[in-house]
Amino acid sequence: MKIVTILGARPQFIKAAAVSSLFSRYFDEILVHTGQHYDANMSDVFFEELNIPNPKYHLNIGSGSHGAMTGAMLTEIEKVLEIEKPDFVLVYGDTNSTIAGSLAASKLLIPVIHVEAGLRSFNKAMPEEQNRILTDHISDLLFVPTQTAADHLKNEGITKGVHLVGDVMYDGILHFTKIAQEKSNILEELNLNAGEFLLCTIHRAENTNSLERLTAIVSGLNACKELVVLPLHPRTLKYITDYGLKLADTIRVIEPVGYLDMVRLESTAKKIVTDSGGIQKEAFFLGIPCITMRDETEWVETVHNGWNILVGANEAKIVDAIRSFNPTSERKTYFGEGNASQLMVDPILNYKKEGI
Ligand code: UD1
Ligand code: UDP
Repeated sequence: MKIVTILGARPQFIKAAAVSSLFSRYFDEILVHTGQHYDANMSDVFFEELNIPNPKYHLNIGSGSHGAMTGAMLTEIEKVLEIEKPDFVLVYGDTNSTIAGSLAASKLLIPVIHVEAGLRSFNKAMPEEQNRILTDHISDLLFVPTQTAADHLKNEGITKGVHLVGDVMYDGILHFTKIAQEKSNILEELNLNAGEFLLCTIHRAENTNSLERLTAIVSGLNACKELVVLPLHPRTLKYITDYGLKLADTIRVIEPVGYLDMVRLESTAKKIVTDSGGIQKEAFFLGIPCITMRDETEWVETVHNGWNILVGANEAKIVDAIRSFNPTSERKTYFGEGNASQLMVDPILNYKKEGI
């Protein structure tokens, strides 16, 4: 059975690292890299250190406006699908690569597998919310990480082909945490002591593309007077420079890091301050308090369980949470058993037989 998997952005490489090694035992999987992320530290590093198979196709689409990027991907992915004629196209998450891959497949009547289906922020101004809603509605097999995600799909009338398997990022963390401890030297390289720094990431469009929001975030990080390690996404570097924002000496800006370094930083941070989707979950898996600089989250379980707090782009709330957010509640198992990739295999193998 042949599966063409579309990848393009950093979190998708990390999800594929958890899934593709297992899938190689069952399927002929061909990876297509759209080129949405292309810097070595946003792309190559993950393929090198996580043993992700080499993509057979590199589309080299690069950056651009949403329409230009998605349109160019659609054109090129269609050509690949005409050549490969796969049984399925698999897409992850909610990026422009996700919607381009699912739409190209759907138009060619190739069944679409959506991994991490059913997530909703209920904020349609987010490009990710548009991408995930559209992808869910043209997918044939929808692998949901949580019961909440399954409920969202049901509320939109989608029940056929939905399988609750857990979160592939949880599979990834379970597999790579020990490897990260053994292989990553990032604490030594940066001269950091475990438990004595905050880890921060910022890249969400709603935060970077607003002078007001990014100024408030930088002011909050400056004002907390804690050591903040900030692996800076290229999008954010560009906006901080363009807006002329000044970072305090307590903020340690570094280039984006590989996953093993990231997991070591996450697991030894005092707290994590982020607007990332994946990092909110990783903080939860690792038991590190998470302060989320967004007004809403898809990962509501982490908030309900008390380990994640939403502070928006509000300077005072950011500072307050950095000083006083100290969760102690027992973490529950919302995200499966760490075998999400394995649980996806049978529904895919049985798909035609069952005629879902
Ligand atoms: C994209 C996804 C977002 C995901 C994030 C993961 C969409 C709409 N957004 O956001 O859901 O959370 O990836 O990190 O698909 N750039 C570089 N080098 C790179 C990649 C990007 O310099 O290798 C810069 C370019 O200036 C580019 C900007 O970052 O215009 C934004 O990149 P883009 O892929 O459009 O969006 P992300 O913010 O990365
Ligand atoms: N990540 C990484 N290096 C970094 C920043 C993030 O390896 O410098 C990893 C992080 O551990 C998580 C994933 O990238 O697994 C999250 O991606 P990102 O925050 O870019 O996107 P999102 O999850 O918000 O879509």
